[in-house]
Amino acid sequence: MLRRFITQPSFAQRCRCLLSRQASGDSFRQCSSSSTASSQVPVGTSVDPTADAHFPDDYASQPSATISVDRSGLNNPPGSTSVYLFIFIRISVEMCLNLLVVVAEHSHEPSEDSELVKHLKSIIKFRGGPISVAEYMEEVLINPKAGFYINRDIFGAEGDFITSPEVSQMFGEMVGVWAMCLWEQMGQPNRVNLVELGPGRGTLMADLLRGASKFENFIQSINIHMVEVSPALKKIQKTTLKCNHEDGADENTATTFTGTPISWYSTLEEVPIGVPAIIIAHEFFDALPVYQFQKASRGWCEKMIDVGEDSKFRIVLSPQPTPATLYLLKRFKWARTEELTKLEHVEVCPRAMDLTQTIAKRISSDGGGALIIDYGLDAIVSDSLQAIRKHKFVNILDDPGSADLSAYVDFPAIKNSAEEVSEDVCAYGPITQSQFLGNLGINFRVEALLQNCTDEQAESLRTGYWRLVGDGDAPFWEGPNEQTPIGMGTRYLAMAIVNKKQGAPVPFL
Ligand SMILES: C[S@@+](CC[C@H](N)C(=O)[O-])C[C@H]1O[C@@H](n2cnc3c(N)ncnc32)[C@H](O)[C@@H]1O
Repeated sequence: MLRRFITQPSFAQRCRCLLSRQASGDSFRQCSSSSTASSQVPVGTSVDPTADAHFPDDYASQPSATISVDRSGLNNPPGSTSVYLFIFIRISVEMCLNLLVVVAEHSHEPSEDSELVKHLKSIIKFRGGPISVAEYMEEVLINPKAGFYINRDIFGAEGDFITSPEVSQMFGEMVGVWAMCLWEQMGQPNRVNLVELGPGRGTLMADLLRGASKFENFIQSINIHMVEVSPALKKIQKTTLKCNHEDGADENTATTFTGTPISWYSTLEEVPIGVPAIIIAHEFFDALPVYQFQKASRGWCEKMIDVGEDSKFRIVLSPQPTPATLYLLKRFKWARTEELTKLEHVEVCPRAMDLTQTIAKRISSDGGGALIIDYGLDAIVSDSLQAIRKHKFVNILDDPGSADLSAYVDFPAIKNSAEEVSEDVCAYGPITQSQFLGNLGINFRVEALLQNCTDEQAESLRTGYWRLVGDGDAPFWEGPNEQTPIGMGTRYLAMAIVNKKQGAPVPFL
């Protein structure tokens, strides 16, 4: 069954070759105190089915990732506003004409306003009216004092949600295979900027480096650049990557456990140019702020966040077009006619469009490519913004700053933004995560690991594998129903943007 993911034999052989070499080391993903939900399987095991797979002694004691919810909205499908605490929707066509229309109010009774709530309310007060959903989302996520991402570790069983790199080290290894294939297609340049946007705990990068550590030419060519806004996560990334700081060196520069130079920045624009780039964005675009629109009798109105007379946040409709409507119109130009006729709600993410254009310009001038993996749609996105706290979906207005906010990624908007800004780049995909990992050879990897492991390790491997490439409930699961692992294989999509000179990137051939 595992082999069904391989659809391109010659390419699969190439990846298998990379994987075999990659796997001949003996290093393992070590447990860090913060990686509570990771499947601790070895990195350095040969994919040759006859070879031994080695597990660290403490592997079996690691908690399973299955209790963790991912952020793709499985339990809160796009289009649904039935999150737990919504009490009230009232849209009145008559009221629409000159007034802000209350779309939703929120029943949460906070004991006392948090600093972030006070800050949001003061913005609304001084602005003299509601703020966009995008501004609200940005404040909630990355406000420098109280943003959701800023001060804590939000991943794993003890955190708020789980991501693929935390599910299994195989994910970072496969992204490493992709990066090495691209580097080969680029002609094996001896200097490359390996950039990761939103690296979380640094787990993907650590697994990529361990997996690639046998490829000396690749490892020696790379400089790592992490784009991270959160001081707390930056600290965790340094621990995960076992960073060494030279005495007196800037705290934003170090070397990783592979001796690779690494630096941190707040934005992609700060990362040095002039060197080919391999850019990785895993679950980064979904955290970028979205504007929401709703079709009303007078046309498309922006949904905005206001404070009601009862001092609670509520969602209202703008009485007239707002500046963000320009992005809505831009997005409509790229939509298919049949898509447009059905729409009642639309989300647009100008930041994603702008970031994509920054990426595309860099790739166009310096060479290289970008890999974007996220949950999202190969279509216009309607109404997907959601909040997750402690593995449960909650109302987006509920205690802002204490829950993650994220929205589906609009992949056609990314493709069009990239190709609009430069004729030298081409966007490929999206393909499903299952196709992406399958065509890169994840099945060889898991089969080899399954050759030599305890029952408990095998269960954890299968769970991680299923979670990454499967779709829906795991068919082999025998544990408690509420912990059944739900596959991320089709809900997560992968897209590559590359310089045309290099040809189509693997595995998007
Ligand atoms: C959902 S997490 C994904 C983490 C990681 N890629 C993974 O898959 O585990 C989003 C990451 O992006 C970072 N982030 C969010 N918004 C950002 C922004 N505007 N600029 C830089 N980093 C940001 C967060 O701090 C976090 O590291």
